[in-house]
Amino acid sequence: MKLVLSRKSHNSLSDQIVQQIAGRIQSSMLTGGEKLPSIRQLSVDAGISFLTVHKAYKKLEQAGMVKSIQGKGVYVERPAQKEAAENSFDWQLSIPAYLTRSSFHSRPKTTYSFDYSAMHSGLLPTIYLADQLTEMLKAEPAILGTYGDVQGDALTREAFSTYFQKQLGLSSAADDLIMTTGLHQGIELIAKTLIGPGDVVITEAPTYPGVLDILMNRGAQVIPIAMDEEGMRADLLAQVAKTYHPKAIYMNPTFQNPTGRSMSERRRKEVLYQAQLHGMFIIEDDSWSELYFDEKPPPKSIKAFDDEGRILFLKGFSKALAPGIRVGTIFAEGPFKKLLLSAKASSDLGTPLLTQRAVLPFLTSDRMMQHFAKLRFALELRRDKAISILSASFDSSVSWTVPEGGLNIWVTFPESVSTVELYEYCLRHDLSFLPGHVCYPYEPASHHLRLTYSLLSERDLEQGLHAFVSLANDFINNRLESGC
Ligand SMILES: Cc1ncc(COP(=O)(O)O)c(C=O)c1O
Repeated sequence: MKLVLSRKSHNSLSDQIVQQIAGRIQSSMLTGGEKLPSIRQLSVDAGISFLTVHKAYKKLEQAGMVKSIQGKGVYVERPAQKEAAENSFDWQLSIPAYLTRSSFHSRPKTTYSFDYSAMHSGLLPTIYLADQLTEMLKAEPAILGTYGDVQGDALTREAFSTYFQKQLGLSSAADDLIMTTGLHQGIELIAKTLIGPGDVVITEAPTYPGVLDILMNRGAQVIPIAMDEEGMRADLLAQVAKTYHPKAIYMNPTFQNPTGRSMSERRRKEVLYQAQLHGMFIIEDDSWSELYFDEKPPPKSIKAFDDEGRILFLKGFSKALAPGIRVGTIFAEGPFKKLLLSAKASSDLGTPLLTQRAVLPFLTSDRMMQHFAKLRFALELRRDKAISILSASFDSSVSWTVPEGGLNIWVTFPESVSTVELYEYCLRHDLSFLPGHVCYPYEPASHHLRLTYSLLSERDLEQGLHAFVSLANDFINNRLESGC
């Protein structure tokens, strides 16, 4: 087994081993029953001490990922996956791969699906968008015969710029925007352009799992920083910045994925101050700041306080408008913009004109704000429903966030409850959520999970939540009875 270990990393060697083996197990590259190299063998292969490997295997065992059998060796715990056993391409499993968290996207769909941060299609203006798109194509079929500009369609950038100024208080010139195919692509373009092997990048802990895959694939060292009620802790950020000289911070400050928490205005300014002090840039992910439940909108984006181009602000409308369109934008000023344009060109030569134009009628009319008002109301009802079912069903050993906007609730169980095992148990009952461990870069197992309350119909949400609390309570009680 080839592991890539670095003595310069801020992570201990044993934690690096844990992370890499856990990643392979989570992505099913290592399947249940497979034997790990012996402690002696791995310590020789990797040129590290016997004790370091022993410590890593112990941690994996405590996390329930491997099992040590006296006199035989250490084996992967998880039951083998059916496809892996049946197909003749199994040899591919021996090739180290690096996308671990994203493998959750290819998990089976369930009836009660709380695992994708997305919206039920009934909450989205799909019919209006489809009608507008049909009319637009009839009037201008040449849209289909034209490559989009690499930076993005000028009309669409103008519309985004007006929206940013009016609704988000951002003074963005249309020329400072680069249209992307979804917000996710914006993160990838920034990472590809500005993050390289060994660079230190800070994220919130927990964070959006998609960003971890992108950063770790670039060879970055990710340092997760704990949050409190006001968001990422500025005192910890200051310490980490001083010690590790990070290059960048990725954050999703408003109704954060996965916790649903929002960063206070005071904290936003402190984070920006730290970035200025230590020469970092910030990747600010604004996936859904419009989806607030209070009378008052959340604090302004960090970008609104930035006058030196330190923040790369990302906006996407996949969640709140149309995941089938996936239009997003990067607001970048100064030399960064030029670099990102080259990255966009080398990635896909520009986002399709069709999808950019598809959001235009909506973005430029009052409908957009009317749609958001309706969506806020519908999501708040769902959030309330979810919280009331959780409150009525769990004792005080289980806690959760009460988001003031967005799509997600973060649930915390007692430390002895593995949400990876609970996930497998729920899958067998046709129900899924996002196990919390995928939201951390180095934590092999965890007792948190993310519940998305926006994806199901109202009826399925209620039925599914009742099923979830009952499965979770059964699972916890069974463990207690069996003395685990
Ligand atoms: C916080 C966050 N950022 C970005 C994305 C990707 O969004 P898009 O579909 O616009 O690429 C997601 C998707 O779940 C997300 O949760």
